[in-house]
Amino acid sequence: MDTIEFANALIEAERAGALTLTELCDLADRPELRELLRKVAHDEGYWARELANVVKRAGGAPSSAIGDFANKVRVIEDLGGKLALLNRGQMWVVRKIDEQLPYVSDPEVRGLLSAMAAAHRANIALVDEALASGLRGKLYQAKTAGFYRKRESP
Ligand SMILES: [Fe+2]
Repeated sequence: MDTIEFANALIEAERAGALTLTELCDLADRPELRELLRKVAHDEGYWARELANVVKRAGGAPSSAIGDFANKVRVIEDLGGKLALLNRGQMWVVRKIDEQLPYVSDPEVRGLLSAMAAAHRANIALVDEALASGLRGKLYQAKTAGFYRKRESP
């Protein structure tokens, strides 16, 4: 895959990511999670714009399409499942970049793609962390509720 084709495929994925994350922001009830998702949404938009510049510098036309990832996330009912799928999508992007990097000769494009993969890995870890702490919170509440119910029963 040449640079223009590859960058355009990533632009479509990043736009889909930004759309997905914007929708997930509205579903997050914890302010910390909402802010994290908003930040990741911004990152997705940032990479889409940077990749559009890569395509233009290479003499191509940046794709204006959006991938269908948001639809896949919409049909999952719980927020935890949506976030897990989001992270699998983000990991797909990292994998695609890792596969393509050996064939990218332009040092500027290599640098951008490497930074993009690293930023994706960092965001995946942050969302994983938020997911884990959210689950712990729910477990803790469930255990506490059970404990008090037991104590209150005769
Ligand atoms: Fe992404």
